[in-house]
Amino acid sequence: MKFIKSDKYEKQFVEENLMGPNSLKMVEELTSTLDLHPGMKVMDLGCGKGLTSIFLAKEFGVQVFATDLWVGATENYNRFKQMGLDDLIIPIHADATDLPFAEEFFDAIISVDAYYYFGREASFMDDKIAPFVKSGGQIALAFPGFKKDIHDNLPPEFLLSWKAEDLETFHSCEWWNNLLAQSQKIHIQSIEEMTCFETCWSDWLSSDIEYAINDRKSMEAGAGKYMNMISVLAQRSNKLR
Ligand SMILES: C[S@@+](CC[C@H](N)C(=O)[O-])C[C@H]1O[C@@H](n2cnc3c(N)ncnc32)[C@H](O)[C@@H]1O
Repeated sequence: MKFIKSDKYEKQFVEENLMGPNSLKMVEELTSTLDLHPGMKVMDLGCGKGLTSIFLAKEFGVQVFATDLWVGATENYNRFKQMGLDDLIIPIHADATDLPFAEEFFDAIISVDAYYYFGREASFMDDKIAPFVKSGGQIALAFPGFKKDIHDNLPPEFLLSWKAEDLETFHSCEWWNNLLAQSQKIHIQSIEEMTCFETCWSDWLSSDIEYAINDRKSMEAGAGKYMNMISVLAQRSNKLR
């Protein structure tokens, strides 16, 4: 896939606000089949420094509720103001386990490089996420994972950059399918490997961010061949309760 939209963004600005593999390219691929248009309300869950929120507002004209735990609302508000997007993006400081929104408020929930931190319990989607989406609304997730679950036999190249517990959040498409298939409130459309893995990681590893420099050791030793980028596309079931 060509990343025509992401490539328009200033390289230095993107690099300054990356928190992992290039989230602009992840969100561009993730949204390529979604129906997003002005007037829609979209939650960007785990938005970090808001790169993906900026993308959603600029590329689709949707109203974005940029929700994050580690990055404060004021920091993100200042960034959105500088971009002239503060009328379209509302920064929210909140925990995904206790979101402060009205039920059935959103047309879509999008989450890039975040859901694997907090969404690994079978009940999480139905209890904490799906209620906030309208009937028929879209849920789109993208996050890193493993091609196969290899926690019991972790190849040594992983331990050059990470501890085994750092990788507990990584799972295969099959693992995520088994988990999310238990949800009663969503209908899964697809769970698959994304094409952006190489380019997203390459952009991250070539940045000067301390965490990226640390990640280089494992990736240069070949850990990437066990890893992938996973997308989940789902729809809120019509039967809401
Ligand atoms: C690797 S960063 C990715 C940030 C951003 N989505 C991006 O791709 O640039 C993971 C983000 O998940 C968020 N996160 C982790 N646990 C969370 C929780 N319980 N509630 C809300 N956000 C959470 C963190 O605040 C962090 O910004």
